[in-house]
Amino acid sequence: TGCITYDPGYMNTGPCKSAITFVDGEQGILRYRGYPIDQIASRGSFTETAWLLIFGELPTREQLSRFSAGLCAEELLHEDLRHHFEGFPPGGHPMAMLSAVVNSMGCYHPDLLEIESKGEFYLAASKIISKVRTIAAFSYRKSMGLPFMYPNPALSYCRNFLHMMFSIPHKHYDPSPEAVRALSLFLTLHADHEQNCSTSTVRMVGSSQANLFASVSAGICALWGRLHGGANAGVMEMLEQISEGKRTPREVLELAKQKKFRLMGFGHRIYKSYDPRAVILKQAAHDLLTKLGKLDRLMDIAMELEALALADPYFAERKLYPNVDFYSGLILRALNIPMQMFPVMFAIGRMPGWIAHWYEEHQQHGSKIHRPRQIFTGQVLRDYVPFDER
Ligand code: CMC
Repeated sequence: TGCITYDPGYMNTGPCKSAITFVDGEQGILRYRGYPIDQIASRGSFTETAWLLIFGELPTREQLSRFSAGLCAEELLHEDLRHHFEGFPPGGHPMAMLSAVVNSMGCYHPDLLEIESKGEFYLAASKIISKVRTIAAFSYRKSMGLPFMYPNPALSYCRNFLHMMFSIPHKHYDPSPEAVRALSLFLTLHADHEQNCSTSTVRMVGSSQANLFASVSAGICALWGRLHGGANAGVMEMLEQISEGKRTPREVLELAKQKKFRLMGFGHRIYKSYDPRAVILKQAAHDLLTKLGKLDRLMDIAMELEALALADPYFAERKLYPNVDFYSGLILRALNIPMQMFPVMFAIGRMPGWIAHWYEEHQQHGSKIHRPRQIFTGQVLRDYVPFDER
C-alpha cells in the first residue's frame, strides 16, 4: 500500500470530471452551467433550473412548458406504491420513507432500470422530479397520521407541493405568491453543489451501473446526516434553545469553540468566504417574513449569532462563515414546514443535481467504477485460534 495517498474525507481527490456546477470557494462564487447563482435565483424558477442542470442549457419557452406538462403527467403514484406508506409506523421519519419509496420506484418502472436512450433518461428524470414531491408530501402526512392529499395537475410545481402538504378535505390550501416564490427559490438554491457528500454518493453508486432510482435513493440517505442536509434542522434547534433561554448566543459560541458542539449552519469544506446561497437566503427570509407580516424571533437570534461569530477570532482564523443551511430553515418555518421535513425539502431541491451527475457519470463511457483504496492498519497475518485456546 506504499504508493496510496492517504486523503481522509477526500479533501483533495477529484474522482470525476464534471461540467455541471462551478464553485470558487475562496471568492464565494457559484455557477450552474456557467450562470451565476444570483441571476438564476432572481430570474429563474426551480423547474427551469432543473432543466438547465440536467440538460445543460436554459430551456426555451416551449421546452419548459413541455417539461412542466410532463411533470404534471407524472405526479400521481401507482396505487400499489402508495400502499407502501401503510407499512410505515406513525411518527416514522419522513426522510426514511422518502429514500425507501424513491428506491421502490424501480419496481414500478422496470423498463427504466437500464437507460439506453436520451428519451428513456428524460422520462426517468421527469418521473423522479415530479413524484419525489408527491412522495415527500405523503411522507409528511403519514408521519402526522393525516389523510393523503392527491396532487392537482392545475397547480404549478411548488404550489402543488404546498397543496399536498397542507390542504385538507374541502379546504384547499392557497399560499400567497410570495410563499410560492420563496419555496421555488429555496429549491433552486439547493439544486446542485458539485461533489458534496450526497452527490458523490449518487455518482459512486451509479458508477457500478446501478439504476437511477437506487442511486438517488442512496443520495437521500447520505443527505440525512447532521453535517450535510440535517444541518438546517440543527440550526433551528440551536436557535430555539437560545429563544427558550436554555443557552445564550455567547454560550453557544463558547461550546462551539471548545469543540463540544458545532455551530450549525457555519463552515464549509469549500467556501472559505460567505456562501453565496446564504447571502440570498438571508435576504429572502427577511423579505418573506416582512411580506407575510410575520415576526420571527429566531431571525433576530440568527442575525445576532452570525454577527458574534463573524467578530470572533476563532471563526475568522478558520474562515468559518454562514453556509446554505444557516438561514434556509427560517424560510421553511415561515412556510409552516415542520422541522422533520427540512432535510426532505433539501432532497427535493437537490434531485436535479443528483440526476444530472448520475447521467454525466453514465455518459462518461469507459468511466471507472468508484473504488477507493485504504491504508491498512490491522493485523496482517495471524493463525486461527480454536475456541478452547482463546
Ligand atoms: N463550528 C465550530 N467549529 C467548526 C465548525 C463549526 N460549524 N466547522 C468547522 N469548525 C472547525 C473545526 O473544528 C476545525 O477546527 P481545528 O482546525 O481547530 O481542528 C476547523 O474548523 C476545520 O473544520 P473541518 O471539520 O476540518 O472542516 P470540514 O471541511 O471537514 O467540515 C463541515 C465542513 C461543513 C462539515 C463543518 O464546517 C461543519 O461541521 N459545519 C457544521 C455543520 C453544517 O453546517 N453543515 C452544512 C454544510 S453546508 C451544506 C451541506 O453540505 O449540506
